[in-house]
Amino acid sequence: MAATAVHLGVARSAIEAEIAARPALVIADARVLGAHPLRIEAPLLSIEGGEPSKTLAALERVLRRAAGEGCDRQATFVAVGGGSIGDLAGFAASVYLRGVRYVQVPTTLLAMLDSSVGGKTAVNLPEGKNLVGTFWPAQLVLMDPAFVATLSEPEYRSGLGEALKIGIGLSAPLFDLLERERAAVLRRDPGALAAMLELALAAKIAVVESDPRENGPRRLLNLGHTLGHALEAHGAGALPHGVAVARGLHFALELANERGTIAAGAAGRCRALLAAYGFAATPLPPAAALAPFVARDKKAQDGGLHVVLPTGIGSSQTCHLPLEAIIARLR
Ligand SMILES: NC(=O)c1ccc[n+]([C@@H]2O[C@H](COP(=O)([O-])OP(=O)(O)OC[C@H]3O[C@@H](n4cnc5c(N)ncnc54)[C@H](O)[C@@H]3O)[C@@H](O)[C@H]2O)c1
Repeated sequence: MAATAVHLGVARSAIEAEIAARPALVIADARVLGAHPLRIEAPLLSIEGGEPSKTLAALERVLRRAAGEGCDRQATFVAVGGGSIGDLAGFAASVYLRGVRYVQVPTTLLAMLDSSVGGKTAVNLPEGKNLVGTFWPAQLVLMDPAFVATLSEPEYRSGLGEALKIGIGLSAPLFDLLERERAAVLRRDPGALAAMLELALAAKIAVVESDPRENGPRRLLNLGHTLGHALEAHGAGALPHGVAVARGLHFALELANERGTIAAGAAGRCRALLAAYGFAATPLPPAAALAPFVARDKKAQDGGLHVVLPTGIGSSQTCHLPLEAIIARLR
């Protein structure tokens, strides 16, 4: 799989120049375009962003617009938006004419530190989220942290949940930065954001490059996601992804504590960091209501689940745990 070139701190004019450099179809989040107009001549498809944009109908819209514009194999699809537009446009790029060049301009914190790197694309079906997709890494990711300024607070916090996951599970330097620069990160200080993104991306890229198809080490990126996905599904998508993951991180710390994979001092520091960012170990829905969603986890195998447990500051491991042990802990 081709590696992705990630450029951090790219000015808007450089993004516009990249779009102008070759034939392109720009697929952009309508809200982003409103807040950050682009001066481009390339064909532009504006799509209402967010989860509802990840449909087969939206995919058809993108593909038919590309065909209508006469895009050939030399075309580049450019996604300007969060993870939703990125997942949709990336999927479209992977199947149009059996695959065309793909460039991402992520505009949410979550897309910058998570979804724009790693190559996963998807749309949803009425039967479930991300059920149709491909691995199609962007050749180029252009990040301008200035986009983050207009994100709503819930969307920003959702991205922070993922940043905390990487700090706790993969990167001690990121953990330290998040502890040290809390106030600056919370007020979206551009310098603190750039430093946070640099460390988070280094950690994510190292894991993804070692396991492009998610057969091994990449599973570590699922820290906090066993309970996080179950909470999202239980709440029918009402809980932002990163907030659900942050609650899942508390749960993973409890499991790690119970199984002795992490020292009490390190676990305490992790819990304190989550709390410092406003992610408390809030009461969970009843275990009986959550259990079916936990059991449906894509990592379920042989009556158990591959769960990621923290083992220290910035480190984690995958453990296969019986489903009953997880449900018992939920109680
Ligand atoms: N491919 C992957 O590896 C991967 C990883 C994580 C998540 N995802 C997917 O990403 C999606 C979530 O993406 P997301 O959290 O980035 O949000 P999003 O793309 O769903 O956007 C959320 C909201 O923020 C708005 N928005 C986006 N950028 C903005 C900006 N700069 N200013 C103001 N508003 C802005 C959008 O219009 C939308 O209303 C989910 O579908 C999830 O499945 C994919």
